Amino acid sequence: MLNKLKEIANNSEKWLSQAGSIDEINELRVKVLGRKGEITQVLRGLKDLNAEERAGVGKIANELKEKLEDMISSRTQDIKGQELELQLARESVDISLPGLPLQRGGKHPLTLINEEIRDIFLTMGFSVAEGPEIESDYYNFEALNIPRDHPAREMQDSFYISEDILLRTHTSPVQVRTMEKIAPQIPVKIIVPGKVYRRDDDATHSPMFTQVEGLVIDKRITFGHLKGTLMLFAHKIFGEDVKVRYRPSFFPFTEPSAEMDISCVNCKGAGCRVCSHTGWLEILGAGMVDPRVLQYGGYDGEQVTGFAFGMGVERIAMLKYGINDLRLFFDNDKRFLRQF
Ligand code: PHE
Repeated sequence: MLNKLKEIANNSEKWLSQAGSIDEINELRVKVLGRKGEITQVLRGLKDLNAEERAGVGKIANELKEKLEDMISSRTQDIKGQELELQLARESVDISLPGLPLQRGGKHPLTLINEEIRDIFLTMGFSVAEGPEIESDYYNFEALNIPRDHPAREMQDSFYISEDILLRTHTSPVQVRTMEKIAPQIPVKIIVPGKVYRRDDDATHSPMFTQVEGLVIDKRITFGHLKGTLMLFAHKIFGEDVKVRYRPSFFPFTEPSAEMDISCVNCKGAGCRVCSHTGWLEILGAGMVDPRVLQYGGYDGEQVTGFAFGMGVERIAMLKYGINDLRLFFDNDKRFLRQF
């Protein structure tokens, strides 16, 4: 029996020194100290010995049992410590690695063009006015000399919210809104940037797009002022060598009305696909403010005159940057946006 105990002691020590995991130690615990373990067997066998032997062997067996329990628990602590260290090493962060670069945003091409247009007019003494995108029939049509049954309404297929409320189809309603605020004082000299909405959707039309309106009212304002202002604008935005021409047109709120073309930015007027082989590109509508509209705004058409213009910002951006599909502005594809 004593030999048996010695054997258990030796084997256990060997096992413990080789054990690499908590599982292996538990295995030993069961094998030696468990209910059917080797030491337990020895202790159970004590009853077959005489009193003297029993006391001697029993003492040794119990001492061995205690010793093994101590060894097992200290080895368990060791292994737990090692595992923790391993885990810490695995999860450690190398703070000397270079950081991930922050992606810096840029301005949307429409924002860039809007700012450019605004700056050109600010240097000419204009100020910026704004108005609501949800507009009344009165400001969007009626006060601009477009009565309910007027065919000019067909030019601007609208999103109606109710019979009298719609998404504004142009920035022109801000003409009358601004006049109402300032009249009868002069001068009025504003631009109106903003979103407008029409029931259109293809490569060159979007249900939402951006316009910049302009309005000047003062004593003795003439068509010459209109031409000079818009020519300066065209030169600033498209370059000094660009040519400008006016074609007669019709808007219910201006009289006379004109459309302004610039010589094609792509072929310099020779004729190409961009300008449909005409050499010219239409960029805005304009005209002398109709006296009826002045009257709606609170001005006397006998005392003051004015001119107004309206341009599509997307169209200007497309021509300036050579973009062929309007929808690119709204897709938010970074490969497109990154180029500006
Ligand atoms: N509001 C017109 C449009 O959207 C443009 C315009 C504005 C024309 C001002 C003349 C004067 O088509």
